[in-house]
Amino acid sequence: MPFTIFTIVGARPQFIKAAAISRAIRNLYSADLTESIVHTGQHYDTDMSDVFFEELEIPKPVHHLHVGSGSHGAQTGLMLSAIETLFLEQKPDLVLVYGDTNSTLAGALAASKLLIPVVHVEAGLRSFNKAMPEEINRILTDHVSTLLFTPTLTGIQNLVKEGFSDQIPEKVDANHPLVVHSGDVMFDNALYFRNLAEEKAKDWFQKLGLKEDAFLLATIHRNANTDDSFRLKSLLSGLMKTSEVLGIPVVLPLHPRTQKMITQYAATDAFFASIPTNQIRIMPPVSYLQMVLLEAKCNMVFTDSGGVQKEAYFYQKPCLVFRPETEWVELVDSGAAILVDADEDRMQEAIQTFSSSGYPAPAGFYGDGKSAEFICGEILKMLQSKKDSANCRT
Ligand code: UD1
Ligand code: UDP
Repeated sequence: MPFTIFTIVGARPQFIKAAAISRAIRNLYSADLTESIVHTGQHYDTDMSDVFFEELEIPKPVHHLHVGSGSHGAQTGLMLSAIETLFLEQKPDLVLVYGDTNSTLAGALAASKLLIPVVHVEAGLRSFNKAMPEEINRILTDHVSTLLFTPTLTGIQNLVKEGFSDQIPEKVDANHPLVVHSGDVMFDNALYFRNLAEEKAKDWFQKLGLKEDAFLLATIHRNANTDDSFRLKSLLSGLMKTSEVLGIPVVLPLHPRTQKMITQYAATDAFFASIPTNQIRIMPPVSYLQMVLLEAKCNMVFTDSGGVQKEAYFYQKPCLVFRPETEWVELVDSGAAILVDADEDRMQEAIQTFSSSGYPAPAGFYGDGKSAEFICGEILKMLQSKKDSANCRT
């Protein structure tokens, strides 16, 4: 009998990460592992959810909890309760969670309290800023996990500083977790989907009328940037200025949270009501393959997204990070990304730095493109050894 894995997803980046592991299970581990996807419903618009399942061939969720939006406590609480009910009924052998969203924390908490081993993919990342809801989610998730897969070596160092061991324990369990550097499943996807993006999204890209290397790509969705009108204005105004200086437009696929805030601010603030469309082309969220093409063909990336920072690096594009700090420190240390916070002057300085210092050569920070395969192998080893020791006891 194969082992049963329940994968908890709910937010856009998790669908994308799940695509890599689901593909590895389907292609290489289907005899030993069966996966059931649980969608919490944290993201629910078609362009924030369904589109990824269709495009990236992710198995349809077996369970959909339809939790929707809400305050952190209410949203996480609803998920926790619904996930616990599901686990009590279904009794999975193992629960897989990704990243740092409220869906991640709810899945990890529900599983750990029922003594179901938790696997955390994208463990060990830290911004050292607990004002970020994600920092709380990732610290708590790591500390209830049994298998922790870090995408970077920095992730291992962060966990060791928090008391984790980087040695292989004799017996792996929640009290003796295994911390492993796996590489980043998002890099697996970047390699896997690059050609498909060219094939499937080429016509869409052509219709945009953009010239390769002659547009800037931006995304903004962090609450610190959207819920503070001063910061959001400064980011948009910095993008307008950059567009003017470089003489090329900015493409801004907008997260619904940011769109809602712009609409709200526009009611009382003329700046938000009159964003020049020739400089900033705002569009609804795009699909993953469309995003890959935008990243691969743009001139430069401006973002507060964790995933988009890395993808800029995968496609070798200079990246300006709209945050005061990042978990992806190797990007900044190598000169592939520059932190500009929400400061217009720092934006212009960073552009100067890129044009004078150039862009670093690829350094393999995120593995070899086979992280998902490796993660599945380790999961299977752990489940098998748990089963063997249970058999020995009986
Ligand atoms: C969440 C994650 C964040 C991740 C991001 C990826 C947490 C705490 N945050 O932030 O780490 O980077 O997802 O995109 O889990 N909304 C819609 N339609 C949707 C989804 C959201 O309109 O399909 C709007 C709602 O007004 C909602 C708001 O966006 O209140 C915020 O959504 P939420 O999932 O709470 O947080 P994100 O900002 O998306
Ligand atoms: N993404 C996408 N369409 C968009 C914006 C982002 O497909 O309009 C993808 C992007 O390529 C990356 C992931 O979403 O793979 C990043 O998710 P997001 O920025 O929402 O969250 P974060 O990574 O910051 O948690």
